[in-house]
Amino acid sequence: MPFEILGVDHVGYVVGNAKQAAIYYQERFGFNPCAYRGLETGCTDRASHVLAQGKIRLLLETPMQADHPLNALLARHGDAVRSLAFRVTDADAAWRQTTERGAVSVQAPERLEDEHGFVVVASVKTYGDTLHTFVQRDGYSGPFLPGFAAAAPSVRKATPVGLRYIDHMVGNQGEGEMEPVVSWYERIFGFHRIWTVDDKDVSTEFTSLRSVVVANPNERIKMPINEPAPGLKKSQIQEYVEFNHGPGVQHLAFYTDDIVTTVAQLRANGVEFLDIPDSYYDTLLDRVGPIDEEVEQLRSSGILVDRDDQGYLLQLFTKPVQDRPTLFYEFIQRKGARSFGKGNFKALFESIEREQARRGTL
Ligand code: FE2
Repeated sequence: MPFEILGVDHVGYVVGNAKQAAIYYQERFGFNPCAYRGLETGCTDRASHVLAQGKIRLLLETPMQADHPLNALLARHGDAVRSLAFRVTDADAAWRQTTERGAVSVQAPERLEDEHGFVVVASVKTYGDTLHTFVQRDGYSGPFLPGFAAAAPSVRKATPVGLRYIDHMVGNQGEGEMEPVVSWYERIFGFHRIWTVDDKDVSTEFTSLRSVVVANPNERIKMPINEPAPGLKKSQIQEYVEFNHGPGVQHLAFYTDDIVTTVAQLRANGVEFLDIPDSYYDTLLDRVGPIDEEVEQLRSSGILVDRDDQGYLLQLFTKPVQDRPTLFYEFIQRKGARSFGKGNFKALFESIEREQARRGTL
């Protein structure tokens, strides 16, 4: 029987200083600590901080021993996403079926238990150094996973900004690697294609990309897979692959029911967004037709709008959240639209090109 993916369980990161990274996600994005593992819980090789908001859980981990295998990942990628963890009905079946179809195992199914019950976890490799972890947790009531303690109440409790769940998770590949990765998801995971962007659709005068979005059968998992396309100047995807030293997770999109309020809170918290030229808003209604929001409100918030045949969506993008121009975040609200903002790519790319020019990487 095919295993079922119920949704994203958590996103795992390897970072240089999980304690400080946790404070970034707390103070900027409104996540609150919910679980912890480290010296105080008897874990001596790494520290793990878990933060939550809505259904989103982030696991930040830092190795504490010189010979810890996570150090090699840190040296190569800097702070980066390591694992996109899926909550599954049967982790054993998920691991067995995907490895039988050719996925490389990283961790065979393991049953972990404590006084709160048990979980089964396993993981397989996907693009670059990224993993998919399978988590089966229907028999578990603890704060995160066995071995984790509930996080001590923090000195400053963050105010959540309305983030509900992960809308999509994007992976950047090297040139020519998109199609093999997409067919890997079709073959190994039984995912299907729901959206495609050709370089002719989205190129600016200078830069371009190609993208295919794959989804699981219930479409709770949506994963755009990008690759650079040739242009007059260097694609932002190529810039990512060079600084990440290989493929990896480019951005996560967090869903909100009220993007105007969410973005006002994020800006007040000091989150830095890509700058959108004023002229974008002068012709907005000509491009997208009638919308519920006031254009002036969107202009002052820097929120972008795009329409497809099913409705429209509102979105905006942060600048990279570490020194390398690698991982960033998107915030998105959908009003019927099920696509990913193709109509905004040109304005967005031009904004990123200005940032690339400042970095000397265009
Ligand atoms: Fe996105």
